[in-house]
Amino acid sequence: MVNNPTVKEFINQNAIKEVKLHLGCGGVKYPDFINIDLYPSNPEIKDGSRSFCVADVYCDIRNLDLEPESVDEIFLSHVLEHFVKWEAQDALKNWYTILKKGASLIIETPDLLRCVLMLFHFQKKYRKNARSQFYGNQTDRLEYETHRYVWDARELKRELLSIGFSRVTVTHKPKTHKKFRDMRVIAAK
Ligand SMILES: C[S@@+](CC[C@H](N)C(=O)[O-])C[C@H]1O[C@@H](n2cnc3c(N)ncnc32)[C@H](O)[C@@H]1O
Repeated sequence: MVNNPTVKEFINQNAIKEVKLHLGCGGVKYPDFINIDLYPSNPEIKDGSRSFCVADVYCDIRNLDLEPESVDEIFLSHVLEHFVKWEAQDALKNWYTILKKGASLIIETPDLLRCVLMLFHFQKKYRKNARSQFYGNQTDRLEYETHRYVWDARELKRELLSIGFSRVTVTHKPKTHKKFRDMRVIAAK
């Protein structure tokens, strides 16, 4: 990476007024978001968990160096489960700090209890979809693609409320990945 701006630099360089962050974007680029990831693609290294990486900024999303109350929206899909519980808790606090009052955090992630239920589904495809979520990618030898802690809906809601978020809603109709197995959690600061 020859020229990798920080998030602050990217905001300034592009004169971004409404700051929307897409964290752990992998190969998914949303045009009206700043797409952030830590691990660039390497065509020589197989990563079956994503198709390339198309980030605008490469940095660690667990502790974003942005001013408090400077961000309008944060979205992440299939990323939270890559962190151990305490890392996720710290990250959620960091994201709470940088969000503006009233702004939303949107998380899509597998729901542990739905995965447990699906493990006993009579159809193999559902059992397979559930099983893959417990430990993530265990074949490509990539530390960052393994899953370390899968949350359940009630636990994640409680955590968000304890940090200070309000109006926390949970559905199992995510806009990305798998309906029923995954949850879409929206929390307001
Ligand atoms: C399973 S992929 C999901 C990619 C994309 N969000 C999607 O739904 O297809 C997980 C992504 O999280 C990224 N990631 C893991 N740890 C990270 C960290 N500490 N900081 C930034 N990105 C991270 C990985 O590089 C990877 O792109």
